[in-house]
Amino acid sequence: MNLLQSSHHLDGPKDALATQKGLIGRARSPFWLAPMAGITDICFRQLMDEMQAGVLISELVSAKGLFFNSEKTRKMMRIHKNPGTIVGIQLFGESAEDIVNAVKVVEETGADFVDINMGCPVKKVTKKGCGAALMRDPAYLETFLKTIKKGICLPLTVKMRTGWDENELTIHECVEAAYQAGCEWVAIHGRSRAQGYEGKADWRLISEVKYRAKLPIIGNGDIRSAVQAKKRLQETGVDAVMIGRGALRNPWIFKECADDMPSQRLSIELLNRYLNGLRENYDLRSMLMLLRKFSSWLAFGYPGATKFRKNMFECLTTSEVMQQAEIFFSQANKHPVPVFEDSEEFMMGGHG
Ligand SMILES: Cc1cc2nc3c(=O)[nH]c(=O)nc-3n(C[C@H](O)[C@H](O)[C@H](O)COP(=O)(O)O)c2cc1C
Repeated sequence: MNLLQSSHHLDGPKDALATQKGLIGRARSPFWLAPMAGITDICFRQLMDEMQAGVLISELVSAKGLFFNSEKTRKMMRIHKNPGTIVGIQLFGESAEDIVNAVKVVEETGADFVDINMGCPVKKVTKKGCGAALMRDPAYLETFLKTIKKGICLPLTVKMRTGWDENELTIHECVEAAYQAGCEWVAIHGRSRAQGYEGKADWRLISEVKYRAKLPIIGNGDIRSAVQAKKRLQETGVDAVMIGRGALRNPWIFKECADDMPSQRLSIELLNRYLNGLRENYDLRSMLMLLRKFSSWLAFGYPGATKFRKNMFECLTTSEVMQQAEIFFSQANKHPVPVFEDSEEFMMGGHG
C-alpha cells in the first residue's frame, strides 16, 4: 500500500469532509488556520474567516492563567459571531482538573471545541509537563485526555508534534491515546519538540500516521502556498491541512485554496478591515503594535520591504502606519506577488 495514496482523489476535498461524522463534517473546507500565540486573536480569526479558512483556533491559553489573570486571559478567548464558522479555544495545562475547570469558562465564549496543546516546545511550558512533554508518556496521556473528556461537554481535539526528539517519535502511540480518549481529531505539526522550527516538517510520517489512525488527522508544517496546500492534502490523504506562517505572508491563501481569489490583492482594504477589528477590541498601544506587525508581514518579499518594516516601528500612531502602508502598497501592488520560498526562514519560533 502506497502511504502517499490519496483519499481525496475521487471526491472534491470539501465533499470528502462532509461525509465525515462529528464536528469535522461541519468544517467549511479542509484548509484551516493554525493556532499562533499573539496572532490568532479574535481580529485575525475574523479576517481569516472572511477569507474562508475552514476551521479557526485561538492561540494557546493557560488553563491556570484563567484563575490568576482572568481578565487578560478571557480577552484572548473572545470569539466573533458567525454561525457557519467553527472556532476552537486551545488550552494548555499540567493537570486535567485545571483544564476541565477552564473549559467551564470556554463554554461561555461560544466556542465549538476545545483543543489541547501538546506541541509547545518552549521550556517554560514543557518543564511543567505541559505542551510537547505530554507526548513522552502515551499511557499517561490517555488517562489525562480521558479525564478531560469525561469532565467536559464540548468536543475535544489535540494538536501535537511528532514526538519529543528523533529517538522518541511517539506520534503513533499518542494518536492512539487520543482516539481511545474520544478526541474528534489530531492535528500534527510534522516536527519533533527537539527540532523546534528547524529542518522540514515530515509529511511522510504524517501520511503514515493518517494511514494507521482511526480518527481524522490534520497535517501541518511548512505550507506556504495554496498549490502546496492542495498537494499535501491530495498526496498524504490527511483530512485537512493547517496553515500558520503562510497565512501571515499571504492572508488570501484560504481564498486561493477555495479557488475564489479576487483579481487583485487589496492590501489597504485588508489593513483597514483588520484595523476596524482592532478598534473594537484593543487599546491604542496594542492596536499600534498589532497593526505594525500585520503590515510588515504583508510587505515581505516586495521591493523596499526591509525599509518599510523599519519605518513601521517608527510610526507612533495607527494613522501614520496607514499612511506609510498606502504609499508602500500603491507601488508594491504593481509588482508580481512575491513567492514565499521554502528555503526562506520566517518566524522560526512559536508555541506548537
Ligand atoms: C508565532 C507562532 C506562534 C505559535 N503559537 C502556537 C500556539 O499558540 N499553539 C499551537 O498549537 N501552535 C502554535 N504555533 C505553531 C503553529 O500552529 C504551527 O504548528 C507551526 O507554525 C507550523 O506550521 P506553519 O509552517 O504552517 O507555520 C505557533 C507558531 C508560530 C510561528
